[in-house]
Amino acid sequence: MTSSTGPGRVTGARHWWQDAVVYQVYVRSFSDSNGDGIGDLPGITARLPYLTDLGVDALWLTPFYRSPMADHGYDISDQCDVDPIFGTLGDADALLERAHALGLRVIVDLVPNHTSDEHRWFQEALAHPGSPYRERFLFRPPGADGGPPNNWVSVFGGPAWTLDPASGEYFLHLFDSRQPDVNWRHPAVHAEWERILRFWLDRGVDGFRIDVAHGLYKRADLADHPPGLVVEDPIFHASTAPYAWDQPEVLDVYHRWREITEEYDDRVMVGEVFLSELDRVARFVGPKHLHQSFNFPLLAAPLDATTWRNLITASLVAFDVEGASPTWVLSNHDVIRHATRYGGGDEGRARARAATLTLLALPGSIYLYEGEELGLEQDDLPPQARQDPIWLRSGGTVEGRDGCRTPVPWNSVPAGHGFTTGRPWLPLGPQAVSRSVEAERADAGSTWAFYQRALGLRRGAFVGAVRWLELGPELLGFARDHVDGGELVCVLSTGSEQLTVALPGSEVLLASRAGTSASARDVVLPGGAAVWLRRT
Ligand code: GLC
Ligand code: CA
Repeated sequence: MTSSTGPGRVTGARHWWQDAVVYQVYVRSFSDSNGDGIGDLPGITARLPYLTDLGVDALWLTPFYRSPMADHGYDISDQCDVDPIFGTLGDADALLERAHALGLRVIVDLVPNHTSDEHRWFQEALAHPGSPYRERFLFRPPGADGGPPNNWVSVFGGPAWTLDPASGEYFLHLFDSRQPDVNWRHPAVHAEWERILRFWLDRGVDGFRIDVAHGLYKRADLADHPPGLVVEDPIFHASTAPYAWDQPEVLDVYHRWREITEEYDDRVMVGEVFLSELDRVARFVGPKHLHQSFNFPLLAAPLDATTWRNLITASLVAFDVEGASPTWVLSNHDVIRHATRYGGGDEGRARARAATLTLLALPGSIYLYEGEELGLEQDDLPPQARQDPIWLRSGGTVEGRDGCRTPVPWNSVPAGHGFTTGRPWLPLGPQAVSRSVEAERADAGSTWAFYQRALGLRRGAFVGAVRWLELGPELLGFARDHVDGGELVCVLSTGSEQLTVALPGSEVLLASRAGTSASARDVVLPGGAAVWLRRT
């Protein structure tokens, strides 16, 4: 039992997810067991000991359900079955069983905002415009000018409406045209997702990552987005229509789902709520709603001490909600890898380690993205290799997400790098040779060794609230209690010069960069580095 007050408080019995390290497995790119070049469930099962060696508590699997793969699995035709590309339901059961035997929890993706155009409901809706399935999607007649019914745009670019030529009506899709949005004002939709929830809970998953959790409901009248009002989407950097998102009714859905998950033992729901204002995001969490929401502002922020302190403080305050806990994220399958965002090369990779070390010292849980423990940077793919629908829809003018989705290099042997014996679905870049799992694990000074050490030292060690330290410009510092007595101090230096910080009585637990030291009085820290200190 842990309990403390102030930001980051944990009240009542401690739940595994409240301070978990969750490793995001992008299923297509983790490990391929049958040589077709695409990662799959048996491939993941075989590699689970890698994750326990690294020291994570849980994994989150991106969608492995039946899908035509227009959005690489986020377009789902049957959410209660496994796509043959990824294996079988038996393989899912085997993965869960093996993970649990190793002490790892498993979170799976749940996609309620849209289906695939190949979903049985949508196929029925297209084939029989008079059928009851039609109302489970958002079909509308053309607008007054004969074009789309309103001016909403797709997050993936272009209009959010596509014409169904047979009926002359349009259907709404806030993402790809092959991902029709579901009508959450229809009761059958609620029943169906409750069935999906129970299907996976009964199979033993430890929770759900809820895709586009602020979506689902649209403004009932589907009114035009006010002209001139441009709202940037914080993940996709596309403009978005506010009437299409974050409607009050969506919270009732999570209220119901919380009741369902409470019928089971210690399960978690984490929402992908990509809204810029944290106060709006925080409405989604609490004892009657979701357990957690991703906290995305750091994905778009420079690694700068003042910016970080403000964002961390705002997050701790916003998510200081009973029955919830904060989360921290630096990379995922939708954004540029953080080593690249911080400048790339050795410097960018060193800064990425500093950022990670800082977040690992905070209350709450952290979601790591596969490959960040190897120090992977964004890969630059040739146009003919790219597959992201964002890139395809834009005719190659929008970068897209393929560069963070290239497969995990397990060894240095091209072209499969131990990921596959066949041809990888996305080519691995030149970094795969020096940053393979094999190379990183053989090197005591590697990013992998650093992550393993950090996760080991963190496990259950840092308790209580954050106490900010005033250390000066370009420095961020805070203290928490160490479970074995004394305090943990984390210092992050975001400038480029080496700095000396007066912190008497400190001993270095772990530094993100060589050249960090502590004497009886001071701590010397290079620029772009972070350190964990133990102070007595
Ligand atoms: C989420 C996923 C993203 C997907 C989109 C549509 O943002 O993270 O990968 O393309 O939803 O389902
Ligand atoms: Ca495969």
